[in-house]
Amino acid sequence: MNIAVVGTGYVGLVTGVGLSEIGHNVICIDTDENKVQKMKEGKSPIYEPGLDELMVKNIEAGRLHFTTQHAEAFKEVDVIYIAVGTPENEDGTANLTYINQVAQQIAQIIKKDIVVVTKSTVPVGTNHYIKKKLKENVSSHLNVEVVSNPEFLREGSAVYDIFHGDRIVIGADNKKAGEIIRKVNEPFGIPIFETDIRSAEMIKYASNAFLATKISFINEIANICEKVGADVEEVAFGMGMDSRVGNQFLKAGIGYGGSCFPKDTKALKKIAENVEYDFSLLSAVIEFNNKQQRKLIDQALKDFSSLEGKTIGVLGLAFKPNTDDIREAASLAIIPELIKMGANVKAYDPVAIENAKKVLPEEVQYVGSALEAIEGTDLVFILTEWDEIKSLPLEIFAEKMKSAFVYDGRNCFSLKVVQEHEINYYSIGRRLSNKQDLIIESK
Ligand code: UGA
Repeated sequence: MNIAVVGTGYVGLVTGVGLSEIGHNVICIDTDENKVQKMKEGKSPIYEPGLDELMVKNIEAGRLHFTTQHAEAFKEVDVIYIAVGTPENEDGTANLTYINQVAQQIAQIIKKDIVVVTKSTVPVGTNHYIKKKLKENVSSHLNVEVVSNPEFLREGSAVYDIFHGDRIVIGADNKKAGEIIRKVNEPFGIPIFETDIRSAEMIKYASNAFLATKISFINEIANICEKVGADVEEVAFGMGMDSRVGNQFLKAGIGYGGSCFPKDTKALKKIAENVEYDFSLLSAVIEFNNKQQRKLIDQALKDFSSLEGKTIGVLGLAFKPNTDDIREAASLAIIPELIKMGANVKAYDPVAIENAKKVLPEEVQYVGSALEAIEGTDLVFILTEWDEIKSLPLEIFAEKMKSAFVYDGRNCFSLKVVQEHEINYYSIGRRLSNKQDLIIESK
C-alpha cells in the first residue's frame, strides 16, 4: 500500500520505517529541510537504537522516502498517517495546532478517496473533529475517513516494540476504513483490537495513566519500605509474581518523566475536568511524582545541612536509558535546584548532553565521562540507569570522590556489593543492612 506519514518525531519516524519494513511504500514528510536531507541519507535525527540500520535497509530497497513537500507526498497515497506533536498547553490540555495544520493541508491537496490515521495522542473527540474539518474542506465527491490508531512505542526500544507490541488498536466508525487499516497492520503479526474511535482514543490515555499510577504506587511503597525496613525490590518481585499485578512497571526510583506520562496524565485529568469529573486518583499520582523527583535532594539535605559550595557529580540526564530525550526528566527538576542552592554541578550523560545544554542553567559543567563527573566531588547523584553507569566499579566512588556520598535514584547497584565498599549509599526503598536496625514499635 502507498502510505504517507506526516511528522518525523519519535512516533512518526519509527512508524514510517516500521511500515516500510513490512512491505509498504512509505513517504515521510517533515517541514525541516535539514532533517529531511539527513533522513534521506539514512541518518535518524533522533537517537533510537537500531533505527538507522532499518532506515538504510528500506531506503535501499526503494520502499522508504522523505520529503518536505506535502503535495508531492499525498499525490499517490491511499493512507495518510498523522504523527505530529501534541504539546502541552499551559493549562495541561493538548495543543492541536499541528493537527489542525495537517488536516487543512490534506483537505487542500488530496484528489482521491483517502483514509487518514491519527497516530498522535489526541483527546477523546479529536478524530471526529479532524473528520469534520476534512469533510468541510475537501471536494464533495471525495470520501475521507478517519481512523484512530494510537501508538504504544517506548523511546529507546521503539524499534523492538513496533515489531513485538502486545496489541495494535484500531478505532474506526467506518467499517471499510477500519478494514483497510487492519490490512495495513496485519503483516506486523501483532494481535489487533478493533473498536470505535472514542474508545481507541481513551485506550491510549488510560494505558499511560495506568502505567504512571503503577509507578507512583510502587514509589510510595518504596518510601514506606525505607521507613519500615523492607526492601522494595523484594516487595515488587513478590507482588509481580501474581499475574493479576504483573511484574512490569514496578521499578522504584525518582519518578517517571519523558514526553508521554507527564503530558498524558495531565491531559487526561483535563479531559475529565471538561466533563465535570474530578479524577482525584490521577491528581494524586501527578502530585506525588513531582515530589518523588526531588527525593535525592531531600535525602542529601538530611545528610548535609546545606549543599552550598558542594561539588555534585550527576550521572545521567536523559529521562531513561537509551534515549537522548530529556523532556520532563528528573535531571530538569533536580539540577536547577542544586544550582540555586549554591552547589557546583558536573554532569555526564552518554548521549543527552547536547539536549540538556539547551535547557539547563549555564552554570552546569558538562564532562565527557562518568569518571570525570565523579572525580573530586562531595556527592554523586545517579539519575538515569544507563548500562554504562550500572557497570561502574564501585571502588571508584571511594577512590575518586572527596567524600563518598552516593545518591542512587535508579537503584543501579546491588546492596550486597555496595556493602563491600566504603561508601555512603542511599537508594530508593532499600536499606543497607549494616545500618542500625530499625525498631518499629507496635501501637
Ligand atoms: C511510554 C509508554 O511506556 C509507551 O507504551 C507509550 O507509547 C509512550 O509512553 C508514549 O505515549 O508515547 P516512554 O515514555 O517512552 O513510553 O518510556 P517508558 O519506558 O514507559 O518510561 C517512562 C518513565 O517511567 C521513565 O522515566 C522511566 O524511568 C519510568 N519508569 C518506568 C519507572 O520509574 N519505573 C518503571 O518500572 C518503569
